[in-house]
Amino acid sequence: MIPTRVIEEKRDGRALEPRALELFLQAYLRGDVPDHQMAAFLMAAYFQGLDDGETEVFVRCMLESGSILDLSHLPGPRVDKHSTGGVGDKVSLVLAPLAAALGLFVPMISGRGLGHTGGTLDKLEAMPGFRTDLELVRFRQILEDVGCAMIGQTAEIAPLDRRLYALRDVTATVPAIPLIAASIMSKKLAEGLTGLLLDVKVGSGAFIPEEVRALELAEKMIAIGTARDLPTVALLTAMDRPLGCTVGNGIETAEAIRCLRGGGPADLRELVLLEAAEMVRLAEPAVGAAEALTRATAAMDSGRALERFARLVEAQGGDPRVVDDPDSLYTAPVSVEAKAARAGIVLEVAPRALGEGVVSLGGGRVLMEQAIDPGVGFEVLVAPGDEVAKGDVLGVVHAVDGDGARLGSQVIQRAVRIGKAGETVERRPLVSHRIGPEAGGQVD
Ligand code: URA
Repeated sequence: MIPTRVIEEKRDGRALEPRALELFLQAYLRGDVPDHQMAAFLMAAYFQGLDDGETEVFVRCMLESGSILDLSHLPGPRVDKHSTGGVGDKVSLVLAPLAAALGLFVPMISGRGLGHTGGTLDKLEAMPGFRTDLELVRFRQILEDVGCAMIGQTAEIAPLDRRLYALRDVTATVPAIPLIAASIMSKKLAEGLTGLLLDVKVGSGAFIPEEVRALELAEKMIAIGTARDLPTVALLTAMDRPLGCTVGNGIETAEAIRCLRGGGPADLRELVLLEAAEMVRLAEPAVGAAEALTRATAAMDSGRALERFARLVEAQGGDPRVVDDPDSLYTAPVSVEAKAARAGIVLEVAPRALGEGVVSLGGGRVLMEQAIDPGVGFEVLVAPGDEVAKGDVLGVVHAVDGDGARLGSQVIQRAVRIGKAGETVERRPLVSHRIGPEAGGQVD
């Protein structure tokens, strides 16, 4: 296998020999193909695509690059959820302990921030002391004790995804359907699950913004899961606006904790409960949608999900005080309000602008392995459809200094588009589609 030949073939749009692609990926993992060659390949794949056979090689090599967990000894179903990446998407932090409180086991392998989107690992690590780099032995113990455990790709689990994920993040090669599908499904297949829920984001803040292509991504992932006997369901969920009211690692974690405590924004709570209900149905297919939602709501409102979260934080080395005092996660030294320059109706709160804004404030990476500032970000106090008067507060910037605060204010002004009263506001439904293998990949 000659690396430049593999890159050339993809660049010129020819189908790759499976064996050559496999050797190329394995050589990258060993360090025999450098990052710059892999970056060239990924860009070629971004433009030329990968066919199903090539995608399958990616899935297999990423999956087999580490261990595949055998969790069959656990006394309950093993169900996880993975999102394709959004802005303000802190669902996993609430959902994993909620699902554990519902009697499921959630062995969650997540990622860091990717492109303009935030990552679960960065949000978890915003809690002082919280460790996401646990050894597998400890991960399994916590899973057994708490019902959920949350780590990243490691040297032991999906190490090839770990390397490619970090490289794609800084080379503008994330938004490719086969690369996303292979990245997500390799991690999830390594978890040894009995059911998987996919949260496929759609709208301007998603990696794949167009509905028809988001459906294609969902169907591709379901096909990968189904081919390996993993019951997989996908929901298409709105990302034409941020989820909840916060964007930025620490302040999103604070919002997730508020949700677990019975507060927080309505859209976050609604999505978490719907997704928990889907996870229950993946575990117990005979349970109807209404019954599953009732169970999820009871587990949240009784405080059982919060109690699981507190145990998770403690087990993974985090400071348990954050559970009672989520405001302690507001650590940025400077906070300023951004105000409406004119009266009107909010037509759009652009998620991508806010996500890129967090990266500019130091809350995301522009270089691989870069340290990030967990405290920076935005609180967004308006939503599409709201009427505002001149001078109303649109949002709050949390920054490290005055320059950051000024930059952040401009980001909010750009992200919140105000139109004339009476103009039509377009909003996607929070959940627009449910796709399951039982319907042969059809939209319900
Ligand atoms: N989430 C992942 O795990 N991988 C991607 O490529 C995108 C979102």
